[in-house]
Amino acid sequence: MKAEAALKGSQFIMSNKRTILVTSALPYANGSIHLGHMVETIQTDIWVRFQKHRGHDCTYVCADDAHGTAIMLTAEKAGITPEEQIERVRIEHEADFAGFTIDFDHYHTTHSPENKALSELIYNRLKANGHISEREITQAFDPEKSLFLADRYIKGTCPKCKAEDQYGDNCEVCGATYSPMDLLDASSVISGAKPIAKASKHLFFKLPEFTEFLQEWTRAGHLQPEVANKLAEWLDSGLQEWDISRDAPYFGFEIPGESGKYFYVWLDAPIGYMASHQHYCEKNGLNFEQYWAKDSQAEVYHFIGKDIINFHALFWPAMLTSADFRTPTRVFAHGFLTVDGKKMSKSRGTFIKASTYLKHLDPEYLRYYYATKLTGGVDDIDLNLEDFVTRVNSDLVGKVVNIASRTAKFITKAGGVLSANNPNEALWQQFVDKNHHIAELYEEREYGKAMREIMALADAANEYIAEMAPWSLNKDPSQAQAVQDVCSLGINCFAALMTFLKPVLPQTVSKAEAFLNAELSWAEGIHYLKEHKIDTFKPLMTRIDMKAIDAIVDESQETAAVPSSETAAPSTSDNPWLTKEPVADEIEFNDFAKVDLRIAKIVNAESVEGADKLLRLTLDIGETKNVFAGIKSAYQPETLIGKLTVMVANLKPRKMKFGLSEGMVLAAGPGGKDLFILEPHAGAQPGMRVM
Ligand code: 2FM
Ligand code: ZN
Repeated sequence: MKAEAALKGSQFIMSNKRTILVTSALPYANGSIHLGHMVETIQTDIWVRFQKHRGHDCTYVCADDAHGTAIMLTAEKAGITPEEQIERVRIEHEADFAGFTIDFDHYHTTHSPENKALSELIYNRLKANGHISEREITQAFDPEKSLFLADRYIKGTCPKCKAEDQYGDNCEVCGATYSPMDLLDASSVISGAKPIAKASKHLFFKLPEFTEFLQEWTRAGHLQPEVANKLAEWLDSGLQEWDISRDAPYFGFEIPGESGKYFYVWLDAPIGYMASHQHYCEKNGLNFEQYWAKDSQAEVYHFIGKDIINFHALFWPAMLTSADFRTPTRVFAHGFLTVDGKKMSKSRGTFIKASTYLKHLDPEYLRYYYATKLTGGVDDIDLNLEDFVTRVNSDLVGKVVNIASRTAKFITKAGGVLSANNPNEALWQQFVDKNHHIAELYEEREYGKAMREIMALADAANEYIAEMAPWSLNKDPSQAQAVQDVCSLGINCFAALMTFLKPVLPQTVSKAEAFLNAELSWAEGIHYLKEHKIDTFKPLMTRIDMKAIDAIVDESQETAAVPSSETAAPSTSDNPWLTKEPVADEIEFNDFAKVDLRIAKIVNAESVEGADKLLRLTLDIGETKNVFAGIKSAYQPETLIGKLTVMVANLKPRKMKFGLSEGMVLAAGPGGKDLFILEPHAGAQPGMRVM
């Protein structure tokens, strides 16, 4: 259900107030919040603040995800109870989020009475509806710890390539997949004991019975198209029943009527969204049912990382449906964070904890930088530390704040009241005209585009001020009114920019509001302040010094704690979005020798109309070859012209939709922007054979 917005004149008027509930994924109570988590909470917080700023009734809840074996083991290691462990971490998490001004209406824990009651209620309903089955399964068991071992708690030697120290059910070296019990010399990571196979009864949620419902639901506009497509592949290959029970010892909720069996952490985690919200409603006298009843008119949005889509877009809607609750309005997945183009790394000092960042830098810098990078899609985003410094300094300090610092002093000197005249209606109109579009971009989570629109307006304002040069006009007493008019327009442009940036920069905007002596509300568009008293301008933001970044990286190198497997960035093995290709079957040397690799000079490179990924390359290897290469995401065609690369020259020509491709160029990398063609030494000559 989308807001009905009507354009009246140049103002954007809300014709209905929406009732919205928003969640971010619940962080595990087992490790610190890092800058990877912050992508999601910042993305969500901007969206929530935007909705509130637009006048909607929007509630944002979250919680710590407190259950599971990992948390139990962490507590044991620290010599404390799991309850003490999760309480410690909850306090730390709340402080980190508060440091980044994440404006939760309520932050709860999944280890709560509300969550226990709701998990039991939902389970009982699933059971009453015939959606729970049970059967015995055999798993690896640690006889010393009397504990069933999840795959990641078993290590051993790969049965295929004999690589040592391989965890779980796949080999990092050769890519083979197997049952963890097939590992050679398997041992329990926890006790070192040799695991034995042991059978026990498990309970399952009958997900396959929801296939038809999910085929429809995943295509009904609740998901991003790329997510729906991925799920269609899973749905087509057939859903499996979902194991929702774990045997004692386990830190969680015991399953009603099943002694010694606990809900798997992933069953009660999403129910934790409801539980947190229920607690909030009860404390504030609000109607929880109004949000969660099957016929609810409220909107419910879950912001998540793309690695946990199956839990939110398959299990969760199916469970809610069986239990007679409404399903989410939309699930918004985002990509992962890389730092300087690579996975966050403790040895490089780029595994940065939220608390480390906050010791050295203002949270608003990162909120802005992430905003410039975020889209409505699932692409990964990169925090390039140098670019971070440049962008923040040039956009926020150099462009936005600069408008006020260049103009405010002339107003203050003349009494501090903004002029009654607008000397350039056309400039102001540009701001008014962009109002609706910028709001739409926020709504669609296209924050990067919104930031570019806002900075283009800042550029227009700065150009105008530079052209009018009030500092020169001010030398001529007859121009006093003109100075006031120009600077008042500057201040109004600044106020509009602050209004548009309020969801991203809450603290800076609150300082700006004090200076402007006005609350910047966006509910009904932007307004020109005339004959309005403002306060004296104080610098709102300082430039980032690269030294602060160096200090953060240094400190992260020293203090980085080993994250639990549950908080670490997902490995390729459990992440369907980063499919690691297993090494292909062996070939004979003679087969390899047939491949004719040649040095090729790229004499032309151009985009191919209608093809998103392809470039058409004209290659010189002594003769000219036409090759279509899927490297458009990584290279601007013109930058390739003149470069040397390596091509497979004797590949049988292939007829493609766009023409004949007469070979292949060699490239490597994870994909997207990070795809690199091989570039031989400059001394190489086109046509040379590569041995
Ligand atoms: O992946 C994670 O970090 C989980 N703790 C997220 C849970 S989200 C929700 F389902 F509770
Ligand atoms: Zn192997």
